[in-house]
Amino acid sequence: QKIYLSDYQVPNYLIDEVHLTFQLAPEATRVRSRITFRPNPDATSADFFLYGEQLTLISAQIDGAPVTPTHVNGGLTCDVPSAPFVWEAEVEISPATNTALEGLYMSNGMYCTQCEAEGFRKITYYPDRPDVMAVFTVRIESDLPVLLSNGNPVTSGDGFAEWHDPWPKPAYLFALVGGDLIAHPDRFTTKSGKDVELNIYVRPGDEGKCAFGMEALKKSMTWDEEVYGREYDLDIFNIVAVDDFNMGAMENKGLNIFNSSCVLASPETSTDMNFERIEAIIAHEYFHNWTGNRITCRDWFQLCLKEGLTVYRDAQFTADMRSEPVKRIEDVIALRARQFREDNGPLAHPVRPDSFVEINNFYTATVYEKGAELIGILKTLVGDADYYKALDLYFDRHDGDAATIEDWLQVFEDVTGRDLSQFKRWYEQAGTPRLSVDEAFADGTYTLTFSQSTPATPGQDHKDPRVIPIAVGLLGADGNEVVPTTVLEMTEATQSFAFDGLSAKPVPSILRGFSAPVILERDSDNAERAFLLAHDTDPFNKWEAGRALARAGLVEMVLNNAAPDGDYLDAVLQVLRNDDLDPAFRALTLALPSQDDLAQTLVDLGHTPDPTAIYQALETLKMAMATHMQDVLPRIYAQYQVNEAYQPDAEQSGARSLANAALALISRTDGGAAAQAQYDSADNMTQQLAALGCLIMAGKGDAATAEFYDQWKEDRLVIDKWFALQISHAAPERAAEVAADLTQHVDFTMKNPNRFRATLGALAMSPAGFHRADGAGYALLADWLIQLDPLNPQTTARMCSAFETWKRYDSDRQALIAAQLDRILATPDLSRDTTEMVSRIRAS
Ligand code: ARG
Ligand code: ZN
Repeated sequence: QKIYLSDYQVPNYLIDEVHLTFQLAPEATRVRSRITFRPNPDATSADFFLYGEQLTLISAQIDGAPVTPTHVNGGLTCDVPSAPFVWEAEVEISPATNTALEGLYMSNGMYCTQCEAEGFRKITYYPDRPDVMAVFTVRIESDLPVLLSNGNPVTSGDGFAEWHDPWPKPAYLFALVGGDLIAHPDRFTTKSGKDVELNIYVRPGDEGKCAFGMEALKKSMTWDEEVYGREYDLDIFNIVAVDDFNMGAMENKGLNIFNSSCVLASPETSTDMNFERIEAIIAHEYFHNWTGNRITCRDWFQLCLKEGLTVYRDAQFTADMRSEPVKRIEDVIALRARQFREDNGPLAHPVRPDSFVEINNFYTATVYEKGAELIGILKTLVGDADYYKALDLYFDRHDGDAATIEDWLQVFEDVTGRDLSQFKRWYEQAGTPRLSVDEAFADGTYTLTFSQSTPATPGQDHKDPRVIPIAVGLLGADGNEVVPTTVLEMTEATQSFAFDGLSAKPVPSILRGFSAPVILERDSDNAERAFLLAHDTDPFNKWEAGRALARAGLVEMVLNNAAPDGDYLDAVLQVLRNDDLDPAFRALTLALPSQDDLAQTLVDLGHTPDPTAIYQALETLKMAMATHMQDVLPRIYAQYQVNEAYQPDAEQSGARSLANAALALISRTDGGAAAQAQYDSADNMTQQLAALGCLIMAGKGDAATAEFYDQWKEDRLVIDKWFALQISHAAPERAAEVAADLTQHVDFTMKNPNRFRATLGALAMSPAGFHRADGAGYALLADWLIQLDPLNPQTTARMCSAFETWKRYDSDRQALIAAQLDRILATPDLSRDTTEMVSRIRAS
């Protein structure tokens, strides 16, 4: 059933202290809890309820006397004293058969936990809600050599270890690890002189893949001290890599647990993109120590309070460590691909949702990535100085609290004196605003008139105007900037802004740096786009102009069978040739909009997208680029080879991305010779995988694909890449068969989320293959979702979003998808997670 934000009630009981004792055994772990409760003076009820799921209750006592609680749906109730009391319980759980990977489970013989959002209730009976915070002491009994929990180590000995976490925390931040693990150790001294022990724990054999993550951790610790004034607050910080994990990673207090794909790195096995992502996720989880742990969320509707802010902080960190414009362009590409897609479909929801059935279904691009964009808007509106003042006040005022979005906005209002009630709509109203713009020029005055509107979203028909910071710069006809970046603050549905003292009509560069997550609808022509691509001083809009040019040409190709646009080819060639531009930027400019991006563009223009036609237009354009740039590509490819020892830094990875973009085009005309040469000589995964992709595209990939498997069959993370690449690079009419065959491979297992996503997720993310007209792609995905659901509802539900765009397509495809959605919904005992997702998608 649905839970509503408006129904929030304070907890009836608060906790002072929790003592947990674990006797680890694969199928019969015993958990003893000793919890000191006291009535909450602010509560309106004295009912005592503890959440508990899949627990076998062995015994329970209150103040030492046995009690017999009443089991109710999702937990238990019991008569309790009206004064503070001690609750004790012993339960039995079975980590070895926990395939949902939520609560305490086993992965390759190691015990680990994932409690966010509501997994702690699968460990013991507890008020499993984030506004109940407590000091935890944990004793773990087991013969395994490494036994970890939150906080600081107290004592350990033969077969046991004890941990104490002095910082009160909600149960979702609890963690426990037990295994035969190897530590990659290091130390860090905080700015006030506190010495902290650092470890990354991995399975034997992975110890050579920890060094990069450790450097990223130390950089993150320094960065948070320097930029936000935040120091670490325990004697030890542990990270553990786990192979079977539903998400990327988890910020458990002092004991972060990571999907091994998000922490293990080596040049031979990880691509440049992997390194960048690992650095960002290590930072993200570390930054949660303040934005999430020291200040947590009152309830799960406030998830964006910690996630939006922490994503924003990790993006700032990456921008500082690498290239700010490149990071911004990458983030906007991802935002449009995932969040705009979500916001414009049946799963649209506000950044702060007001109801949910299963909270795990709301760890979304909207909560995370749009949530981060809102922090960016706020910072633009109040300015950098007030932003950091407000953050200081936030940490000061709310340290130790379970806070709300209202608390967050209040610190900004108090620091700046601004009324943020209109800004708050960004948190409450779903949907991506559309911003249209008209221009006028007379008597030296240039006027931009903007209109905003947001389409209706499920359950929200009416939308109010939002405050939108629109960063604008103006360029003269000679390409010089006549008005530097100025932030226009739009608050009305329609609003004009004038610039005077101009000698001629300028060319506007609007929404510089992508200053708000909106869709800019501007009637521009290719000449203006090419002009901005050549002259804009704002790197984001320079890239954006190239993208708009590419998109316009591709739309003409799809709709009117037009030839590739010569203006586009010339403009991109100029960028490619310009050695003054950052190679990473040039690689991004050479990349084309995705199939999914083009499908949505066509929908916005009032057409039904044909996935095959979109795929073919992209192929035709790439071929045209390859021939148009034939003379310069070999020069670029040679010039940007890296001859120094491999480093995953921005400079080297930028060079490799440009060289590999060139290789992809060269491979369309040289029969794969250059790619084969690169494959044969590659000494790092970036080069090897890029070459393999080119060989497959050129139809010359069979030998290399087999060799690659033989070389890497012992490395799970590399084999994930091998699964995904074969599907993502297959010809569209073959992709479903390739994926189906790979599900029969000895190395396929649906119990490992990474492998499942590498296979079925890769199919879902290849539009032309997934949307094959006969429905084979839909049927294959649905078959596997139905099989996975009883084992792992979270990963199943998450992958249902592959169907979220179904209403874009023609009626035949819609009917095929509807049939699969209905088949999933008709599955007996379908999980709450999957039921919610499929029903929301189907209802649209
Ligand atoms: N808080 C974690 C992070 O952002 C993600 C946890 C997701 N858990 C879930 N059940 N969906 O890093
Ligand atoms: Zn997070």
